[in-house]
Amino acid sequence: MLAATQPAIAPQPISILLVGEKEEDFFLIRDILSRTRRTLPSELDHAHTLGEAQKLLRQKPYGLILFEHETGDAEAVRLLSEFLHEGVTIPFIVLTEDANEQTVAGIIEEGNWNCLAKSQLDGATLIRTMRCTLALHGLKEEKLAAEELLRKLSRAVEQSADTVVITDREGNIEYVNPAFERLTGYKRDQVLGLNPRILKSGEQGREVYEEIWNMIIAGQVYRGILVNRKKNGELYHIEQSISPVRDPDGRITHFIANGRDLTERNRLEEQLLQAQKMDAVGRLAGGVAHDFNNLLTIITSYSELALDELASGNPAASKMHEVLLAARRAAELTRQLLAFSRKQPRALRVADLNGVISRIAKTLPRLIGEDIEFKFIPGDGLGPVRIDSLQMEQILMNLACNARDAMPDGGCLSIETSNVILDASYVHPKKIQIPVGRYALITVTDNGEGIPPEHLPHIFEPFFTTKPAGQGSGLGLATVYGIVKQNKGFIWAYSETGMGAIFKIYLPCVKEKTAPTIPLVQEAASARGSETLLLVEDEAPVRNAAAEFLRLQGYTVLEAKDGAEALALVRDCPSRVDLVITDVVMPNLSGGSLAKELLRSRPDVKLLFVSGYAGETVLDHKIFDLERNFLQKPYTLRQLSAKIRAALVSKPEE
Ligand SMILES: Nc1ncnc2c1ncn2[C@@H]1O[C@H](COP(=O)(O)OP(=O)(O)OP(=O)(O)O)[C@@H](O)[C@H]1O
Ligand SMILES: [Mg+2]
Repeated sequence: MLAATQPAIAPQPISILLVGEKEEDFFLIRDILSRTRRTLPSELDHAHTLGEAQKLLRQKPYGLILFEHETGDAEAVRLLSEFLHEGVTIPFIVLTEDANEQTVAGIIEEGNWNCLAKSQLDGATLIRTMRCTLALHGLKEEKLAAEELLRKLSRAVEQSADTVVITDREGNIEYVNPAFERLTGYKRDQVLGLNPRILKSGEQGREVYEEIWNMIIAGQVYRGILVNRKKNGELYHIEQSISPVRDPDGRITHFIANGRDLTERNRLEEQLLQAQKMDAVGRLAGGVAHDFNNLLTIITSYSELALDELASGNPAASKMHEVLLAARRAAELTRQLLAFSRKQPRALRVADLNGVISRIAKTLPRLIGEDIEFKFIPGDGLGPVRIDSLQMEQILMNLACNARDAMPDGGCLSIETSNVILDASYVHPKKIQIPVGRYALITVTDNGEGIPPEHLPHIFEPFFTTKPAGQGSGLGLATVYGIVKQNKGFIWAYSETGMGAIFKIYLPCVKEKTAPTIPLVQEAASARGSETLLLVEDEAPVRNAAAEFLRLQGYTVLEAKDGAEALALVRDCPSRVDLVITDVVMPNLSGGSLAKELLRSRPDVKLLFVSGYAGETVLDHKIFDLERNFLQKPYTLRQLSAKIRAALVSKPEE
């Protein structure tokens, strides 16, 4: 036996402990051992009593114990055996006066290792018994270690999140792990003995399976993605690897298939793609809207100027009116596109959401008609949110319009608010980066026709509509989505065909206190003036039209095509400039930087900003206030002059 010779070649001498009263036995054994030192290097200690032995055993790691057992001292054997079995497994040999079969059987039962009659205690027998005991012990240790490893491996397979299937060489299932049961819906005893083809979905051709079989039967490992079918008929994607298991002679006996469910990964990828698509569309929409706003400003401005020149009753006047109306509708469209692209300028105030919504809610019944019952259920303890009330109005109007369209025969629409704390347990399953924290939740519910599952992933996309041509632009929900995102919120839609729809909007709460709402500056009917205005605008037609109109209103108008020219004009102009009207995004010097420069030399100068869009960077300048000195393009000339009047009469620190 190979193992039996192992202790002989062990580099370290083996420590042996003799437990027994007799001094002469100690000398005898020591003598025997010293003679075999070359093949079995060892050192021998002697313990006279069990107590002494226990003490020594605690101090030193012994490799073998020789235990002298007087006939009838079974109690001592039991004690020692107990001691040895408290975790330490040291092989030991009992040296007994007379080794009758019963004693030997009893000793082996106790878990001891070997037994030697003292009458046979000669050198050769002792050494042989020692070698045999040590070899047996080594084997047992190896077996234990192998069992332990097997136990760990089996646990790993049982607890793995990946599916594991073991089949025999013919492909009959011998084992499936719990992950397999969870994913496929088949219980282990339902599939044992069956072929994995029970999972076939029909999504792959016959040749795919043939190729897999040919590969693995040739001893190669197959790796690939398969579409399989669960017990309930549902399809799932799985990343599969199948490898052969060979016996010591190299023959394939089994196959092991490991599979990773890709459903979740695919879902996340889809979500990411969707988010990226929305982002790209948003950027495109923002860019288009910005250019459109300049064009629309030119159209409306010249229409207004032309209308002013036409005598009333002139048939061209009604035609110009139509142009103006069309431009206004186009302006509304670009306003929605801007909202979607999150570039819509906002007048953010920390507001009491219930107050804002209840004001808007008053106007909703008129919008949705009498057949629809409307309820607003304000929740308690709502945290303050930072929101533009006009944007809130846009959100609710769009959702209410959709609900109205989904309930042509009447129904019920409700808006509910509540205070929610999103913790890790909520945020994690959504797998989307939502910061934990306090949110105000707005739930808009209708019991209309609902949204079919194939439409649901698309409803927030701009221009997605199921309404007949001319009835829906498909921008309603895109606008809502854009505004919610701009406000760092989240929106979910839940719906099923025929079951109505629920929209949930989470807006993050802020720490600040709510501010009183400031009423918006209204468009004045007539807003003439005689002050000096400096008009800074890079688009010549926009500038020309505005300058012409403002001069007609009585103002002195200086014009500059960019910030640098404006600065030079102010420096050289002997008379005082009362108000600078500037575009925000311009070449050379932006409106924000121009304002900063101007305020340095002329701290009393008044400013009015106009823009096709106001991105976050522009808003960050903090020198303008959307409600006080900002005008969104496209504007009508009348809105412009009203805003100019308001800016002129405002107090600087207001
Ligand atoms: N509450 C709802 N119930 C049923 N379907 C809805 C609901 N809200 C939205 N939808 C579906 O989502 C689509 C997109 O809505 P969205 O508001 O973006 O555009 P629209 O209403 O079609 O057009 P627009 O709002 O621009 O006039 C709708 O055409 C409709 O199919
Ligand atoms: Mg709509």
